[in-house]
Order: sequence, then structure tokens, then C-alpha cells
Amino acid sequence: MKIAVIGTGYVGLVSGTCFSEFGHSVTCVDKDPRKIDALNQNVMPIYEPGLDVMVAKNRSARRLHFTTDLKAAMAEAEAVFIAVGTPSRRGDGQADLQYVFAAVEEAAAYIQDYTVVVTKSTVPVGTGAKINDILAARLDKSLFDVASNPEFLREGAAIEDFMRPNRVVCGADTDRAQAVLKELYRPLFLNETPVLFTSRETAEVIKYAANAFLATKISFINEMADLCEKVGADVQEVAKGIGLDSRIGGKFLHAGPGYGGSCFPKDTRALVSTADEHKVPMRIVRSVVEVNEERKRAMADKIIRACGGSVDGKRIAILGLTFKPNTDDMRESPSLDIIPALQAAGASIAAHDPKGMDEARELLENMEFCDDPYEAMKGADALVILTEWNQYRALDVGRMKDLLKAPVMVDLRNIYGRADLAGEGFKYVGVGRCPE
Ligand code: UDX
Repeated sequence: MKIAVIGTGYVGLVSGTCFSEFGHSVTCVDKDPRKIDALNQNVMPIYEPGLDVMVAKNRSARRLHFTTDLKAAMAEAEAVFIAVGTPSRRGDGQADLQYVFAAVEEAAAYIQDYTVVVTKSTVPVGTGAKINDILAARLDKSLFDVASNPEFLREGAAIEDFMRPNRVVCGADTDRAQAVLKELYRPLFLNETPVLFTSRETAEVIKYAANAFLATKISFINEMADLCEKVGADVQEVAKGIGLDSRIGGKFLHAGPGYGGSCFPKDTRALVSTADEHKVPMRIVRSVVEVNEERKRAMADKIIRACGGSVDGKRIAILGLTFKPNTDDMRESPSLDIIPALQAAGASIAAHDPKGMDEARELLENMEFCDDPYEAMKGADALVILTEWNQYRALDVGRMKDLLKAPVMVDLRNIYGRADLAGEGFKYVGVGRCPE
């Protein structure tokens, strides 16, 4: 099957590459010629484990192509995926759909035979209907259908999530469009992946409901962590104790510095905005957003308390800048709020991140970026773990103690425990595990 993917950002690039791995002939289009040139030399614009190898393999098999030429990409394509960005709009937090509509208008000019236009970008419910109107104004109805096929990829595990998903959701209102999507996902039928066919609107809501629910679990456990700290309970054990109930499930119950990334913050805000537009109260998700915003500020205060109430004139070593491990993505990372708050309180910052430092340099100012985690610790008054990269899980405690001016560790991901460090005379502050 021949398909086109518009947008080689995270979603478009991973989806297009994995569709080619399924055996389809895929052309990915982007307006940015530098990105396309790089991809044509197997140079990835993002860090995602395994992606470079899969791109190279499918390019050499001539199943995966990259171009800036939309017309050529769309020739004979049975489906065109819209995978352009939908950033948060300033003001109301709604998803900005200008790139989606622009892509649809451009694509419309090249539709000659029946084509399914599929949204992969996360778009508010009702967007498919608007795309339908745009196309209907230009084309005969027999030439197209509009479907919604949301992605549920996690950065850092995106290939695994695409190739072995929990489920695939296809929102398509005609048999013809459903048949095209079925054909595209046929390889997954072999391993009995549930493929859910729904109306387009339902698929659009599923995407937001899934992300909002996961974000709710995180804000919920983060508030439980605050309570645990006050009463001497352990949030990790609370999470385990509730998570073993299969109705609750143990995943997404890790307390931490608040969720970040390209999806949860943006999508929860957009869902609240959509609910407002329809005059539906969305109190739970609104609170989830508020709790998460406040959490990042609260984490800076937690670090300041761990340093004896002031960080003025102190040096703080930060390990981890990206919003989660195995990505170079800094979007809405808690570090972007926590570091400036510490700086405003008079701290100087020395930080390390295995993949995120190039991007971080563009976003964070007046701080030291270190090539090695131990370099960041030299002479620091406290060490803060912000992102749970594997390489921070087994740090040399003796070396750490020698390098730090004061043996204080604030572990916002709970990858250590008091017992690991107590013998070394460290002051250890985790999240929701011990009174500070
Ligand atoms: C998320 C969804 O998981 C995915 O299905 C969707 O398509 C895109 O958004 P992603 O943003 O890549 O994926 O990361 P994810 O692993 O879900 O983590 C999101 C944020 O939540 C991170 O900041 C992470 O640190 C935080 N998180 C996650 C927690 O604080 N606690 C948890 O238990 C889980």
C-alpha cells in the first residue's frame, strides 16, 4: 500500500518509518529542506532509540522516502497522514490548528483518486469535520474520506509502542475508509492487537481522554506523595498497594516533579478548553492541570528547604534536564521551571543530561553545562536528580561525597532510598517517602 505522511516531527517520522517496516511504501514530506536532506543521509532530527537503524533499513529497501515535494509524495497514495504540530495556542490553551488546515489545503490540490485523509496529530474533537468541509469545498465527495487515527506513542519507547501497541484506534465513518485503515494495520492483526473501529469524533475524544486519564493518575499520586511526607508514609508502597488492584493498575503512579513533555501538558489544557467551548464542566482535568503547574514551583521550594532554607550564593548540581529519560526533548520539562526558580533564589546551577543539553542550552541561561555528572557535583551544596536516566541509578556514592561540598541529595524521581545513602552520612530527600 502506498501512503504519504505530512510532517516529519516526532509522530510523523516514527509513524511513517514503522508503516514502512510493516511493508508499506511510505513517503514522508516536510517543508524543511535541511531536515529532509539529513533524513536522506540517515541523520535523525530527534533522538529516539532504534529509529536511525529502522530508517536506514527501510530507505535501503526503497520502502521509505523523504521529500519536500508534496505532489510527488501524494501521487497514487491511498492514504495521507497529517502529522504536523498542534502547539498550545496562547491565551485559551486550545490546540493551534493552523498547520493542520494548511497541510490539508495543500494536499487537497493533489488528490486525484480516492484518498483517505487521516489525522495523526492530536486534534480537538470536531477537527475531522472541519477538514471534511475544507476538502468538500474543493473536491468531489467520492474522492476522499477523513479519518482519525490517534497515536499513543511514548517518547523513548515509540518504536515498540507502534510495533506492539496495546490497541489501535481508527475513527472512520465509511466502509471504504475503514477498509483502507484495516489494510494498513493488517500486520498487527497477526499478533491479535485490538483494533478498535469507532466514529471519527469518538476516536478524537479517545486520544484526549487517554492522555488526561494518565495525567490524572500522575497528579493524584503526586498529591498523595505530599500527604505521605507529612504523615511519615511511603508513597512508593502506597502506589504498589493500590496498583495491585487490577481496577487501578500499577502504572503511571510514580510520584515525581510533575509531568512534562509534548503531550500531557498541551493535551490536558486543550481538553479543558474544548470542554469550555461546549460549556461542559471539566473540573477533574482542570485540577490536574493546576496541580501539575503548582508542583513544579513546589519542587524548587523543596530543594531550597533541603539546603537549609536558602540557596542564595549556593551551587546546585542538577542531573537530568529532559522531561523524561531516553529522549532529547525538553518540551515543558519540569527543569525549565525548577532551574529558573532556583536561580531567582540566588543559586548557581551546574547541570548534566545525557541527551538534552543541546536543546537545554537554547532554553536555560546563566548556568554551567557539564559533560559528566561528577563534574556537575564538584563543590556543589546539593545534588538534585530531576530525570531518572539509567546512568544516574548507580552513581559512585563515595566519589559523590568527595566532590560535593555538602552531602545533600534531593531525589525527585525516587531512584535512591535513604538506606542507600545513610551509611555515607548523606541527607537524603525523596518524594513522598520521608519527612524532610
Ligand atoms: C505520553 C503518553 O504516554 C503517550 O501515550 C502519548 O501518545 C504522548 O504522551 P510521553 O509524553 O512520551 O507519552 O511520556 P510518558 O512516558 O507518558 O511521560 C509523560 C510525563 O509524565 C513525563 O514527564 C514523566 O516523567 C511523567 N510521569 C509518567 C510521571 O511523573 N509519573 C509516572 O508514573 C509516569
